[in-house]
Amino acid sequence: MVIDDFYSIGRISGVKEAALGFFDSGVGGLTVVRAVMDLLPGEDVIYLGDTARLPYGSKSPETIRQFTEEDVGFLLGKGVKAIVVACNTATAHALPGFWESCPVPIMGVIEPGVEAALADGEAERIGIIATRGTIGSHAYQHALATRNTGLMIHGVATPLLVPLIEENWIDEEVTKEILRKYLEPLMAKGIDTLMLACTHYPLLVPVLREVLPEGVRLIDSATTCAEHLQRMLEAKNLLRKGAGEGNLEIYLTDLSEQFEDLARRFLKRSPGRVRRAVVSKI
Ligand code: DGL
Repeated sequence: MVIDDFYSIGRISGVKEAALGFFDSGVGGLTVVRAVMDLLPGEDVIYLGDTARLPYGSKSPETIRQFTEEDVGFLLGKGVKAIVVACNTATAHALPGFWESCPVPIMGVIEPGVEAALADGEAERIGIIATRGTIGSHAYQHALATRNTGLMIHGVATPLLVPLIEENWIDEEVTKEILRKYLEPLMAKGIDTLMLACTHYPLLVPVLREVLPEGVRLIDSATTCAEHLQRMLEAKNLLRKGAGEGNLEIYLTDLSEQFEDLARRFLKRSPGRVRRAVVSKI
């Protein structure tokens, strides 16, 4: 099926009434979904977690682009009216390639993250933790430096964190130990702001507060991302009006036993019935 056919499905079903599409390599993007459901409760949401191929963060840019293309294709096939790339790694490596070609509005999580970090003008020394792919892309470093050349910016790749979160080992001593080790170089630089540049990391906030010195601000972009999405939908006249609670449909490429538990922590509600997704090249 070609992308135009997918778009027709969205148009025929009345674009405003169509669902919003989100994807991530796993459950992390649900942090963004939670924020969107709080801000835009009437919108239907379709979420794809590519759990069979997680993590994206250690894959090559070419592979990440291929996976992203397939994830976007899956969501377009569901007739979504807009897409949120709820994965920093995919945003960093693949999103620019979709600005032109995607038939529905598409946005990522990096711009909202940068906006959140710089919002109050307090940040001077910014630390970034993210997957290898995101740090290696320099997308955050570039976006921050473009807005403020006086910032001191330090990125650290923290590849062990996503597997620990997906395993639900969040409160384990080993996770705190790993965090201390990862954060050491950032502490040595005296950062005042730490950007959680991976949609999985908001779940680590309580543990991060334990291991970080007081006063370091934590930036999680989920809320800013929801606000960006609202502005984008308004600008495109795609915002759904009217009362009523939207539906949440979750698809995963691999179903695991711990998903329900983990999804509940991300969503602060039951994920409902989770369906198996098959994604393939479009
Ligand atoms: N949640 C993803 C992100 O924001 C990455 C997890 C992964 O490595 O797949 O980058």
